[in-house]
Amino acid sequence: MAEPQTRDVSNHVLFEIATEVANRVGGIYSVLKSKAQVTTAEYGSAYTLLGPLNRNSAAVEVEEVEPKDPALAATIKAMNDRGIKTLYGRWLIDGAPRVLLFDTGTGYKWLDEWKADLWSSAGIPSPPGDHETNEAIVFGYLIAWFLGEYVSHETKRAVIAQFHEWLAGVALPLCKRRRIDVTTIFTTHATLLGRYLCAGSVDFYNNLQFFDVDAEAGKRGIYHRYCIERAAAHSADVFTTVSHITAYESEHLLKRKPDGVLPNGLNVKKFSATHEFQNLHQQAKVKINDFVRGHFYGYNDFDPENTLYFFTAGRYEYRNKGVDMFIESLARLNHRMKSAGSNMTVVAFIILPAQTQSLTVEALKGQAVIKSLHDTIKVIEDNVGKKLFERSIAWTEGQELPEDKELLSASDKIMLRRRLFAMKRTSLPPIVTHNMAHDGEDPVLNQLRRCQLFNHPSDRVKVVFHPEFLNSANPVLPMDYDDFVRGTHLGVFSSYYEPWGYTPAECTVMGVPSITTNLSGFGCYMEELIENASDYGIYIVDRRMKGVDDSVNQLSDYMFEFTKKSKRQRINQRNRTERLSDLLDWKRMGMEYVKARQLALRRAYPAAYDGDEEPDFFGSTEVKISRPLSEPGSPRDRSGMMTPGDFASLQEGLEGLSTEDYIAWKLPEEEDEEDYQFPL
Ligand code: UDP
Ligand code: G6P
Ligand code: GLC
Repeated sequence: MAEPQTRDVSNHVLFEIATEVANRVGGIYSVLKSKAQVTTAEYGSAYTLLGPLNRNSAAVEVEEVEPKDPALAATIKAMNDRGIKTLYGRWLIDGAPRVLLFDTGTGYKWLDEWKADLWSSAGIPSPPGDHETNEAIVFGYLIAWFLGEYVSHETKRAVIAQFHEWLAGVALPLCKRRRIDVTTIFTTHATLLGRYLCAGSVDFYNNLQFFDVDAEAGKRGIYHRYCIERAAAHSADVFTTVSHITAYESEHLLKRKPDGVLPNGLNVKKFSATHEFQNLHQQAKVKINDFVRGHFYGYNDFDPENTLYFFTAGRYEYRNKGVDMFIESLARLNHRMKSAGSNMTVVAFIILPAQTQSLTVEALKGQAVIKSLHDTIKVIEDNVGKKLFERSIAWTEGQELPEDKELLSASDKIMLRRRLFAMKRTSLPPIVTHNMAHDGEDPVLNQLRRCQLFNHPSDRVKVVFHPEFLNSANPVLPMDYDDFVRGTHLGVFSSYYEPWGYTPAECTVMGVPSITTNLSGFGCYMEELIENASDYGIYIVDRRMKGVDDSVNQLSDYMFEFTKKSKRQRINQRNRTERLSDLLDWKRMGMEYVKARQLALRRAYPAAYDGDEEPDFFGSTEVKISRPLSEPGSPRDRSGMMTPGDFASLQEGLEGLSTEDYIAWKLPEEEDEEDYQFPL
């Protein structure tokens, strides 16, 4: 093994390891994908993402190429020679980072041996029959093998390995025990116990300090997984998480205080025309209108111009994602809108993938009858057009102009009547688009039933539960998720357990207002950063200090107030929301990753920094808000808020580095809202 101190720290190599590399499951995929551009800009070919091979998604997302780095090529070859199949290629996303995916199936022949080793060397048990844990173990051993082999070929440059989440964490204790000459970072995006405890009926946040963690993990049958997570957190040179709330949780549940917080960013795309995003909203909204007209056929008694689209979306964690609270608040909103005689209608979408059998006949029929109506009217339009043209040609002065009723022939009328009768319906428009595998036990359906949200014509709040992630190939709601979000008016994410929460952040950069909570990392982050967040379209429900009933009322208040906005007010608010994008751009957020990596290098190779001047790697990358945020309200001048003193700040040994270096954004000059021109 090479002497650690001899490795070149300034010209180092970076590996990021996660199970969601080129494989969408939840938010970690969004972290890796959206961050790729800034990380490849910084590292070029010295950056590789390592993950397990999922053939279906890799076939779509990855293009195979030959590795250029000789050490990497030699390492892959050595593993291939021993029967491990891999796929090395370019991930087809912005930044086009290189990925190396391991076929875990080809490592299973060593599973028993590796499990025994994990027990004897790290004291981590692994009961039979837990497929997810077996996958994590095989993947972890393959990664440790890979890193050990790689540093034997690459003897000059320092190597950083950053691991995301427990599923990718098994290699961490192995790297430490085998003294593999790499420096490691473990970033957790949630804790196992946190997720499990919150999903039950536990007063989580008031009891964090008091949980008997081993016993709680044991009771839930996840003790072995918990051991992996805890070992990963304790073996890493640097331990980080995505928000302060999860840092606090990690300190108590994993028993290690994180070295810092790495908040999640987004790859913010700017349009050349400032108001292009408003046009996109309108275009996407028209597509949602089409769906709604089909879904509510026979009951289209509400005007699309006075209809607002609200939605929630995410993995189906009913309580953690606050779907229970959302539905309850919708019921109260419905009642309030009815009592107030509101002329608005809210269509609330709930997008959570669940087990389904197929789309319902009614959902398909809805779209089909509207399509037939469109087609028929097109034919009639053509017939009328032809007739009108012929008569106009034949017309001479003194004759009567062709009369409207003559233009519509008897057969046209019959065609039209057929379509109108096909739209008659005896049942109410459905609340769900699919046949559910467990209809009777589904928590969303049961809650909708309990709250009597049945899409009755008198209801001002209509609901559509779409139990599948969106995609443009869907015959009923043919839109990709981003496109759909743009077309809506308000995203609602009333989470109880949410380490970060990409969904409201994605709304923000698309200029769509959203509601989040002060139990979500994103909500807390925005609350810290912006004085009057609701003016900017970031509504934060208090789920920390208020009782459940008060939180539900606060949420329905926010929604009710929103329904009272005029179109112009909504447009103005979208402009303000979109102007917050810069705050969430990886160009700014990514600085914390830079700091974490520097800390990891310093901890592993202290001698390389002996006598160094204080580093100035943030000075040149300071990002300022490009355009002033408009009235009303202005974000606080919160230089340094991202790493407040109560949390470790990734600055150990970096006394010279000030947080102001990376978030030194000044109070922008305010400007007159009316200066913004946009089409109405
Ligand atoms: N998402 C998606 N399609 C959908 C709904 C959601 O791709 O129909 C994505 C969304 O863009 C977001 C991710 O799922 O990036 C959820 O991440 P979040 O951090 O909100 O929650 P997690 O699932 O990681 O707990
Ligand atoms: C955008 C478009 C406008 C449209 C408006 C609708 O601003 O540029 O042309 O009128 O959206 O807003 P609304 O909130 O009613 O969907
Ligand atoms: C986790 C969390 C989510 C977070 C995501 C990315 O899955 O549940 O809140 O946004 O990771 O960090």
